Amino acid sequence: MLGNFVYSNPTKLYFGDNAISFLSDELKNYGPKVMLCYGGGSIKKNGIYDDVVRILKEAGKQIIEDPGVMSNPTYEKMLAGSRLAKENKVDLILAVGGGSTIDYAKGVSVSAWCEEDPWEKYYVRMEEVDNRVIPVGSVLTMVGTGSEMNGGSVITNTEQKLKIGMVFGDNVMPKFAILNPKYTFTVPRYQMVAGIYDIFNHVCEQYFSGSDDNTSDYFSEAIMRSVIHASRIAIKNPEDYEARSNLMWCASWALNTLIGKGKSGDWEVHMIGQAMGAYTDATHGMTLAAVSLPYYRHIMPYGLAKFARFARSVWDIETSAMTEKQAAEAGLKAMESWMKEIGVVLHSSELGVTEDNIEGIADATFLLDGGYKTLSREEVIEILRESL
Ligand code: NZQ
Ligand code: ZN
Repeated sequence: MLGNFVYSNPTKLYFGDNAISFLSDELKNYGPKVMLCYGGGSIKKNGIYDDVVRILKEAGKQIIEDPGVMSNPTYEKMLAGSRLAKENKVDLILAVGGGSTIDYAKGVSVSAWCEEDPWEKYYVRMEEVDNRVIPVGSVLTMVGTGSEMNGGSVITNTEQKLKIGMVFGDNVMPKFAILNPKYTFTVPRYQMVAGIYDIFNHVCEQYFSGSDDNTSDYFSEAIMRSVIHASRIAIKNPEDYEARSNLMWCASWALNTLIGKGKSGDWEVHMIGQAMGAYTDATHGMTLAAVSLPYYRHIMPYGLAKFARFARSVWDIETSAMTEKQAAEAGLKAMESWMKEIGVVLHSSELGVTEDNIEGIADATFLLDGGYKTLSREEVIEILRESL
């Protein structure tokens, strides 16, 4: 561990098939007005809405409903939610859903009482919050982003064609998260698989960087192995509680900052994926999947040792008779086979990317310098073309 760091994570988690029973204890910590944020209606079909509303009513809360949070939540929606939260002087925002709903809730929590333009202040200038923050709690229904236990809030500005993730501090992170793996049983297969790849890629982004011997990399390998194992079971039987619970736990730990401690991180796949999302509104995990193989093959020569270790430690490939390059290639080949096996999207053309919008996506891609190779705009274009 060569880096200096601070580690803190204030989110209290309740995990298991009885986790929702702890919601009433948490609600005692907040005032009477609860803004209930949720997405397009899945929680009404699977009964989670009824469970949550019953508990809120039993606790004597006044519910301010804020439905319709879309996947890849927009700035426009976030402003409308912020007005609603301010007008009603809400005491708690309860986000019931996946990453989109929780990210949105964090955006509303810092924007409701913000005197400036929140997009400019938080998502462009990435300033610290210096106004009142409304506490956020969450009931997670879709696994992947880790939003339930981190400060991330990814918002899409449709007018500017930008999708930007701000990472807020401890004061904005969810105060609590209710994690019941059974709640994820009804997630459509496409979303489940996208979420699985999102978890995996969060680990890759932190693993494929740096050359020091770092405990974080060993944690990363353990999470990747667990995700691969559990994913193979979950795609055969989405109602396998053990597999879905392992995926849920892996997702939280893949992006709650632990495995990035003491080392550098890459995040370029996310930068390209987010730019692609701004142009196509495609499912987040699938944008990452479509760009990953062209990207990792491109940077592999600059981080050969880590890619060879990935082959050995994550995919159990016997590499003693191979050169470092052969081992590295074998690791990516194994990753490709697994991606095909679980059924992620491997071509961005399937997500709506065309030759015509490649330049625009490249312009909307932030170029970071934490990975093995800092890309130029031309290299982003090359990778995007390969991903088509
Ligand atoms: O809207 P509803 O009707 O609820 O349907 C959702 C949505 O269509 C559905 N769903 C969720 N739980 C369900 C369910 N359907 C049936 N049963 C359930 N139990 O699944 C669909 C996808 O939900 P969404 O919340 O959009 O997915 P996800 O959790 O992947 O979140 C994606 C967003 O998170 C951002 C992404 O960019 C994207 O905007 N990210 C947030 C991060 C963070 N906070 O740190 C990091 C990630 O890298 C990511 O960028
Ligand atoms: Zn992600």
